[in-house]
Amino acid sequence: MESIRGRLCKAPENFLAPVDIVQVGAQARQGRRDFIRGAFAAAVAAGGAASVHAQAKVQGAGDPAILELPAHTKGLGQAVATDGYGLPSKHEKNVQRRISPGLTQTRQSSVSFAPLQSLFGIVTPSGLHFERHHQGWWDIDPTQHRLMVNGLVKTPMVFTMDDLMRLPSVSRFHFIECGANTGMEWGNVAVPTVQYTHGMLSCSEFTGVPLIELLNLAGADLSQGQFALAEGGDGSSMTRTIPMSLIRSGEVLVAYGQNGEMLRPENGYPLRLVVPGVQGVSWVKWLRRIEVGDKPWGTKDEAVHYVDLMPDGSHRQYTSIQECKSVVTSPSGGQVLLDKGFHTITGLAWSGRGKVKRVDVSTDGGRNWRMARLESPVMSKCLTRFNLPWSWDGKPAVIQSRAVDETGFVQPTYAQLRAVRGTRSIYHNNSIQSWLVQASGEVMNVQHV
Ligand code: MTE
Repeated sequence: MESIRGRLCKAPENFLAPVDIVQVGAQARQGRRDFIRGAFAAAVAAGGAASVHAQAKVQGAGDPAILELPAHTKGLGQAVATDGYGLPSKHEKNVQRRISPGLTQTRQSSVSFAPLQSLFGIVTPSGLHFERHHQGWWDIDPTQHRLMVNGLVKTPMVFTMDDLMRLPSVSRFHFIECGANTGMEWGNVAVPTVQYTHGMLSCSEFTGVPLIELLNLAGADLSQGQFALAEGGDGSSMTRTIPMSLIRSGEVLVAYGQNGEMLRPENGYPLRLVVPGVQGVSWVKWLRRIEVGDKPWGTKDEAVHYVDLMPDGSHRQYTSIQECKSVVTSPSGGQVLLDKGFHTITGLAWSGRGKVKRVDVSTDGGRNWRMARLESPVMSKCLTRFNLPWSWDGKPAVIQSRAVDETGFVQPTYAQLRAVRGTRSIYHNNSIQSWLVQASGEVMNVQHV
């Protein structure tokens, strides 16, 4: 684990506020300018504009990056990209999905984590969306792909992609979180960065057809048919039971769109199930069949995996809803605060039961809390971005966030969660995360303390 942390500490996206270029060297220069820009905007909101402005003026004096015209202001830039797919700047190459060495043995049954520490707002760029495959991914030919609807229906039906895309569609923003997100913490492993603690989480605008419309077209028996089985088209035999109550609400989508374009192959192209608020495993990818039935199927991914072992030895099954949770993404583990003074604490909050109502932030390990500003829009079963201005006095500080959703559910502390759930789980850890900012500015995970 140490080696991962060492590597990530050097990644540019982890530098926050390099102020004194003499002390921190050339690598920090770019960060300093970013800091000044960011801090200035934030300080205006926080009422501290004057002091940051003065600081920026002093530091700007004699800066060659201001005084000397860079080459790009004088020469001919690159030609317009006439074809091809646009890529991020080469300076952002450290912002990547990452796999956790040692977590899985093969890259086919594995997970790649989203770099939450580097993202703004609530939407995860499709190329940074986390991945979780049980048996590898496929780039399926959409002209050959079919979706069958059978079981307790009047007319079993088979849809082509063309059939589906002709139907009225909806587009909605939702988070997807793997039930195993933050799972290592059950075993007291202080995973080094927020990418690894919480990065099995992403948020997209999904476009597709409400599943209930397809069931109605097939004449599903909705009184006897209380459940639907969703089956994926990969080799993992991924099948999950979805309660009809969720489908009937119109929220469950048969989706082909993600952030304005077709789904990425690794996220289920050309078709996946979107089950808002429910753990990621139910968002069946490469969706090929929906069967209506009168009882849960109890498949391998419902009976053996994705169950919670309780302290009394019993299992919780079908614990699908992702309860209210939040995490500070910056400052977070592996990052370095390069000076005391103004910083913005920022993070993400979400609830599988609806909208986030409020997020409180503590900088003293939970003794005192301040209400964070929620960025709009705040949407149901979607990520919500929160921000809080903070002046760091250079002393050790334990930073935490605590979310409350519209049902009144309050995100538990680690101790509260363990008092009910014990220590033997893998899934469904929604406890408050603690990051320690050390006097050196280095931030580390102290969740296990
Ligand atoms: N669907 C199929 N067919 N095969 C899979 O391996 N993995 C599931 C789910 N759907 C999976 C699947 C799991 S465990 C999760 S958390 C989500 O897909 C991950 O979705 P993503 O890879 O788009 O992030």
